[in-house]
Amino acid sequence: MDVQEVDRLTEAALAEIGAAQDLSVAEALRVKYIGRNGLLPELMKQMKDAMDKRAMGQALNRFKVSVTDALVEKKAQLEAAAKTIQADAFDWSLPGRWAPRGRLHPVTQLIERVCALFRRMGFVVADGPDVETEYYNFDALNTPADHVSRDMQDTFYLPGGLLLRTQTSAVQARYMQAHPPPVRIVCPGRCYRRDTTDATHSANFHQIEGLYVDERVSLADLKSDLDHFAGELMGSGVKTRFRTHFFPFTEPSVEVDFSCHMCGGRGCRVCKHSGWIEIMGAGMVDPNVFKAVGYDPEKVTGYAFGMGIERLAMILFGIDDIRRLYENDARYLAQF
Ligand code: PHE
Repeated sequence: MDVQEVDRLTEAALAEIGAAQDLSVAEALRVKYIGRNGLLPELMKQMKDAMDKRAMGQALNRFKVSVTDALVEKKAQLEAAAKTIQADAFDWSLPGRWAPRGRLHPVTQLIERVCALFRRMGFVVADGPDVETEYYNFDALNTPADHVSRDMQDTFYLPGGLLLRTQTSAVQARYMQAHPPPVRIVCPGRCYRRDTTDATHSANFHQIEGLYVDERVSLADLKSDLDHFAGELMGSGVKTRFRTHFFPFTEPSVEVDFSCHMCGGRGCRVCKHSGWIEIMGAGMVDPNVFKAVGYDPEKVTGYAFGMGIERLAMILFGIDDIRRLYENDARYLAQF
């Protein structure tokens, strides 16, 4: 055993320590090299046989110091690595991932609610196209081109006698043409008007139309059916009030108010202190509409009504600006 031999052993030990991948291996190497029965005490015993005791002593000291240092460094390194692994590990006590639950838009909710209410009263749901002909939107509804009431609704006209329907009333004529009486339908859908957008107007909005045609349908039926509807939708005790009005396709025509669901009719901010809230237009189907669709006005009568859904949503949910319904701020809409 000479100094060079010891230096070789030192290099080999350092290489082995450097390659150690976990703490138990490092500990085994400590035992192997500098443990009480390890290589170092073994080499010390051979000191006495060395030719140059001083040089040998220094070589053994280099072995001891460098192996000890390497082991300390290695252990610190492996301990730090073990901590990071723990930090990355999956924590089974964590709560589950939150998946936000979607919900229906307030307009959709109301359409579904209103349709469901009328279905229970024996109505079926019908629909028609957004792009309509002038005929179904106006002419068949007793509103010829020169009729003043066309001005009541600013219309988006398209080429070829087409337009974006201004009212779901357009579905009335289509449906009656295709189905013999009796007819009991509600038709929800989009409508379009050249309105300047503000807190209560939107160029694009929704209506629900109702139409009931049979023998001997009367204004009293309209009143009682709407009373029932008002109570179901807004809460029992909510009544309806008819005010005379004009629509080309109904005679007589009325505007229908509901008594205020917030204050019970005493007067509050919601009903602008009148106790009543305007909800829809309605009336008895004009005989000219029956003629246009091939029904015999001597045999059948009917009522029709139409209401704006956004307006209803604003009243029911206390929304102060129609634009909020279309900004698609999920945080806002999720409240309803
Ligand atoms: N279509 C009318 C409107 O948009 C409402 C209405 C429907 C009136 C049916 C009477 C009958 O104002």
